[in-house]
Amino acid sequence: MKIIITGAAGQLGTELQHTAPSEFEVAALTREHLDIIDNAQIDDAIVMHKPNIIINTAAYVKVDIAEDEPEAAFKLNAIAVRNLALRCQEKGIILLHVSTDYVFDGAKEPEPYLECDRPNPLSTYGVSKLAGELYALNLCKNIYVVRTAGLYGSRGSAGKGGNFVLAILKKAKTKEPITVIDDIIASPTYARDCASAIWQILKAQMPFGIYHAANSGSCSWHEFAKHIVTKAGLDAEIKSTKQALYPSKARRASWSVLGTSSNIKMRHWKEAVDEYLDKQGALK
Ligand SMILES: NC(=O)c1ccc[n+]([C@@H]2O[C@H](COP(=O)([O-])OP(=O)(O)OC[C@H]3O[C@@H](n4cnc5c(N)ncnc54)[C@H](OP(=O)(O)O)[C@@H]3O)[C@@H](O)[C@H]2O)c1
Repeated sequence: MKIIITGAAGQLGTELQHTAPSEFEVAALTREHLDIIDNAQIDDAIVMHKPNIIINTAAYVKVDIAEDEPEAAFKLNAIAVRNLALRCQEKGIILLHVSTDYVFDGAKEPEPYLECDRPNPLSTYGVSKLAGELYALNLCKNIYVVRTAGLYGSRGSAGKGGNFVLAILKKAKTKEPITVIDDIIASPTYARDCASAIWQILKAQMPFGIYHAANSGSCSWHEFAKHIVTKAGLDAEIKSTKQALYPSKARRASWSVLGTSSNIKMRHWKEAVDEYLDKQGALK
């Protein structure tokens, strides 16, 4: 099976490369080699690599800045996905498109969101990602949409300038004051675990449709930060604050927990982040 990974230099793209099963022949294409906004580049990549599957991890991920530049978010998260889906449908290629918990509004608290729940995004980023999902699901028959949440990986997100875990470690080490929101409950997810779930879906040729792939359990970002510094053995006080006191452009759901009704069972977020800290050489 030949596979193209788009956005291959990103957090998830990198972990997909690190965890690819040997039966897949992977062409990991960074934006430099495949800009998915450019249809001609998509066509060239398909001719060159003859993929059976395209995994699309490329995305516009700057959640707050998207409020000021919706065109850029929609161009990549919706229109480029539409164009990919049309080509995949035409050529009989399976499309696995990665999406987000930001398609939900949080009203389901205290129950985790399942694949069948109705999206209602609160931000431009969330709307653009939902539009991408809908294009993909409606235009391509052989389609997987995999929603994940709160990613951190061996490589930080270039679009977001790192990741939450690395940012907390850095601040704690340099004794910077740390204040973290305690009224957004989420599913922080190790990008490597999300990548493994994606490979599991493809290897098992699971039925086409929507899947949630997030570490199990849930926590506030404050609780997550406290766990990180404790496990790293760092002496840092983490103050808590509320979303309302921490102005950000984009609205975020206060409950953003992904569950699944599929066979994909993912380990608890604590176990996942402990392994990540260990791999970063940061576990005490
Ligand atoms: N990060 C999270 O917390 C999170 C949570 C839920 C869902 N997700 C979803 O998970 C997926 C992967 O996210 P991530 O954290 O791996 O993001 P990331 O680290 O920012 O990676 C995204 C990649 O896409 C590339 N890219 C940007 N524009 C492109 C274009 N026009 N053509 C091709 N590639 C392009 C970026 O390259 P450059 O660096 O050159 O721009 C980057 O390598 C996305 O669909 C995202 O919406 C992420």
